[in-house]
This record gives sequence, C-alpha cells and structure tokens, in this order.
Amino acid sequence: MVALFDSPARSRRARLADHHDAEALAWAWRQACEGAGLCRSVDTPTGATISTPKVTGVHLGPPTSLVVALTPGQLPGDVRAAAHRIAPHLGAVALRIEPRGMTHVRVTLLDVDPLAGTLPMLPGPGVLLGRDEGGTCLRAEPGDLPHAIVQGVTRSGKSVWTYGLLAQLAHRPDVLVAGCDPTGLLWRPFAGSRHAPWQSSGLADLAAHEAVLRRVVDEMDARIRDLPADRDTLAVTPARPLLVVVLEEYPGLLRVLDAAKSRDDDPGKRVRALVSRLLAEGAKAGVRVVILAQRAEASVVGAFERAMCSLRISFRCDNRASVDLLHPGADPAVADAHTAALPGIALLSRPGHDLTRIRAPFLGGYAEYVAAIAGAAA
Ligand SMILES: Nc1ncnc2c1ncn2[C@@H]1O[C@H](COP(=O)(O)OP(=O)(O)OP(=O)(O)O)[C@@H](O)[C@H]1O
Ligand SMILES: [Mg+2]
Repeated sequence: MVALFDSPARSRRARLADHHDAEALAWAWRQACEGAGLCRSVDTPTGATISTPKVTGVHLGPPTSLVVALTPGQLPGDVRAAAHRIAPHLGAVALRIEPRGMTHVRVTLLDVDPLAGTLPMLPGPGVLLGRDEGGTCLRAEPGDLPHAIVQGVTRSGKSVWTYGLLAQLAHRPDVLVAGCDPTGLLWRPFAGSRHAPWQSSGLADLAAHEAVLRRVVDEMDARIRDLPADRDTLAVTPARPLLVVVLEEYPGLLRVLDAAKSRDDDPGKRVRALVSRLLAEGAKAGVRVVILAQRAEASVVGAFERAMCSLRISFRCDNRASVDLLHPGADPAVADAHTAALPGIALLSRPGHDLTRIRAPFLGGYAEYVAAIAGAAA
C-alpha cells in the first residue's frame, strides 16, 4: 500500500477515498512508466518481470506529488527525460522532478506549463541565462560562459535573449561587448561608449564588419603572445576584459558578403576564417563568440564551428531536423513539441547537463533594452 502524506483531519470515508486516489495514481504511474520505457525487464523462469520506479508516498495536495524510489542505476535525469510522456497519464500538463536524498525523487504534478508567463530579469550572481522547468535559474559568471550559438525562427526570442545578456554585461568593467550586427539595431544604444569601437552595424559598410573581427583577432593574438610562461589561459581583468563577440543574424551577414564576392576578392571567406579562429583559439584568450541564426545550418555554421559552441540554445524551430542540428540525440517527441514553442521558450544544451527546456528572461522591448544599455555602458 502507498503511504499517504499530510492528510488533514478528514472523515473516515474521505480518507478511504484519498487512499483509493493514491493507489490509482500509483497504478497510473506504473503503467505510464512502462509505456514510456522507464522500466527494466528481468527474465525469470516464470516469464518477464517488469520493474518500474516504485511510488513510496503520495501527497494529494494541491499540488499533488509522488515520492518515487529510483531503481538501481537510475538517476533523476532519467525520470526527467521521460516526464513529458508520463505527465498526461497522471492528468498533468507537466511534471517537476526533484531529487530527494540519493535514491528518491519527488514528482510534482503541474496543471500549467511551468514555463508559462514571462521571467523578469531577476537580480543575482553572474548572468541569468534562463529558468528551467523546476524553477531553477541558470546563471553563469561571464568568464565561465563558453562560446554560444542561438537559433530560432523569426520572432522566437533570439534578440530578446541577447538584449538580456548584453544588458547584464555592458556595465561590467571586465567585459567589452563586440561584434557585427547587420540589422543595425543591436549597437545603437552603445554609441559613444567604450564598447563602440569594437562594434559594426548595418550593411552600408561591409568592410567594417571584417575590420571589427580582424581587430578582435589581433587582440586575441596579442593576448596569446603575452600569456605568462606558467599560464595557458588569460585571467580576465578590467585591463584585459572579456571580449564578448556577438554575431547577430550571422547567416544574413554572410549572404551579403558572399553576394559581394568577385573573381579576386572573397570577403565572406575571410570573415568565416576570422570567426573560425576566434572559436578555435578565443576561449583561452578571454574571447567568447555568440552566434545568432534563424537556423544553424551547415552552410552557415560548419560542424567545426558548431562543435566549438558548447552552449547551444534553440528557440522555436521549424522542424525536428533543426532541433537536431544543435541538440543531436534530443528525444524526437521533445523536438516535435518544440516546433510549437511560445516566444522566449528554448531548449538549452550545455556541458555536463541534460537537454533543458528553459524560459528566457524578458528585459522588456527594445525601449527597455536601449534604456538598460544607455544606463550601463559608459
Ligand atoms: N523571453 C521572452 N519572454 C516573453 N516574450 C518574449 C521573449 N522573447 C521574445 N518574446 C516576444 O517575442 C517577440 C519577438 O522576439 P525577438 O525579437 O527576440 O525574435 P527573434 O528571434 O530575434 O526574431 P528575428 O529572427 O525576426 O529577429 C518579442 O517582441 C516579444 O514580444
Ligand atoms: Mg532578432
């Protein structure tokens, strides 16, 4: 029998009904785990025995939650990965899975998507990248950020995520915001700031983009040359700030550069080569690249570039194949569902963690971005 937690003072009849509900839930859990493949089949002389993570307690709530004992070798992440298949069979929109001790998890039944509603720019250490379904904020110190690639169809939330990132970085004396923005919007509020000489905007002057990237590469080379004999990575300081190189609408920039190609001049090839060098050598020299694209397809971001970007974020994608580009091996059901994601909801991969569904922080519209940068970037 399943233990029923926290039943308040209730009549005997009501308590009996609660026990029925708890047993029914535990049974539904077992069935759903079997269907979702969260089970182990052991052959015995009398036939196969299926074992699923066992419900050891139920809290009828609201919110309703189960305490589940993991089977040997199982991790909370395994339950999390199957949660979207199990949730509907428990009458929930989604499940929140939290470790409980070393061998159990608490499974909370959610009746609204935990990522519904906007996420304000919550204060805290480092930069806020987003919040996961369990309510945990994903944060990183700027120096710990890897190279990143962000994709998503139009109006899915790439620029808004970037506004949030830059608003959190621009005021830091140990960060310089650099890069190329063919749309001409991203760098407008930086005009006149210490960051501006490292930025190029618009499509009127194509050579400016190459010049900015060349300047960052030259700085990277100088930094690597000057590395002390006993160090293999540069310590980021206000004197040697982290250079965050944002390539907004990178495919669009490459398209225009490729169109300008002539028999003896290939600016697109040179820009690709500069970006490849930043990706390959920048991490140890305090340079981080953030590539933004509607689709991280091979003609834009080759396998090498993709491999260098270990932070990968996909806002809504057109199809499963697009999700696979940045998150190979993602559960097809998760990838399919992501084709209908709301603006600001993304799948995020980072080293050492499972694929995570997140809500990106929302600083506000363009006006709020301009105000945040104008107040921060001196
Ligand atoms: N994190 C978020 N929270 C709430 N709403 C968001 C969020 N991100 C984006 N939106 C909404 O979606 C709209 C489009 O977002 P955004 O401009 O970032 O799209 P985009 O991916 O950059 O598109 P494009 O490729 O056309 O530039 C925003 O104006 C905003 O209304
Ligand atoms: Mg945009």
